[in-house]
Amino acid sequence: MTVRKETSPISTSVSRTRLHFDMSAQHDDRAAMYGEGCAEFYDEIYAPATRIAVERLAALAAEGPVLEAGVGTGRYALPLATRGIAVHGIDASAAMLSIVRSKAGSLPITTTLADFSTTAVAGTHRLVICLTNTLTLLPDAVRQSQAVAHFAAALDEQGSVLIETTHVVGDSSITLTDVMLDTRRGKRRYRAECRHVDTTHLDLWAAEAGLRRIARWRDWHRRPWNGEQGNVLSLYRKRTQSQQCHTRAAITTDP
Ligand SMILES: C[S@@+](CC[C@H](N)C(=O)[O-])C[C@H]1O[C@@H](n2cnc3c(N)ncnc32)[C@H](O)[C@@H]1O
Repeated sequence: MTVRKETSPISTSVSRTRLHFDMSAQHDDRAAMYGEGCAEFYDEIYAPATRIAVERLAALAAEGPVLEAGVGTGRYALPLATRGIAVHGIDASAAMLSIVRSKAGSLPITTTLADFSTTAVAGTHRLVICLTNTLTLLPDAVRQSQAVAHFAAALDEQGSVLIETTHVVGDSSITLTDVMLDTRRGKRRYRAECRHVDTTHLDLWAAEAGLRRIARWRDWHRRPWNGEQGNVLSLYRKRTQSQQCHTRAAITTDP
């Protein structure tokens, strides 16, 4: 998870621990844990969405609708909705959803309080987004792959899925990040437990869900990603029927 230290009015302290064991069993409620812990000051952790990011998303969404997995306080949902694109946001944190709803007013934003890795959302969407390393907040690879399958199932025939992860060179373990932040309302602490997503696994889960990768960028300017540490944007579309058969054969025959 990227933490922008400069967004803090006074100071930020961050400590990271790499954990090499699976903590999922100890955190059944962890879907809501991160959001509940930082909703109040989330908008002080991250800067507003950049214009280029919103333009890119709006172009992918065409006229929508968009499904955002882990909508948070609406950093992306609100500017998209301002452009008239309908956004459905799913989030496990009631506190996050209460903020996005209070900001939305009459904008075309609807929300569901749920875990996006275990919940099928009704209807189809032109674009499904899961940004800001949100996929890594899931406790294990099984839940991450289930989430990708739900994203694929929520697409219309021309739809795309855009997933933003952080690539960590040489480590696919869990990172525990403790942050102490000086917010406008005083010192606040939050914790993010990230189970890193390797791009190879992401492509495999996507292929199993009937998607094919059509691009991989390191930023919203669409600079190609070449294995660098940092942000990775992976864009997928639905496979055609003949591509589906081809992939199934490849998955079965690969060592
Ligand atoms: C890093 S924030 C991203 C918020 C927003 N998408 C953005 O880019 O600013 C992650 C969001 O995902 C939510 N979240 C984490 N795990 C979730 C899960 N399993 N199901 C639903 N929401 C989840 C958190 O509550 C939080 O609002």
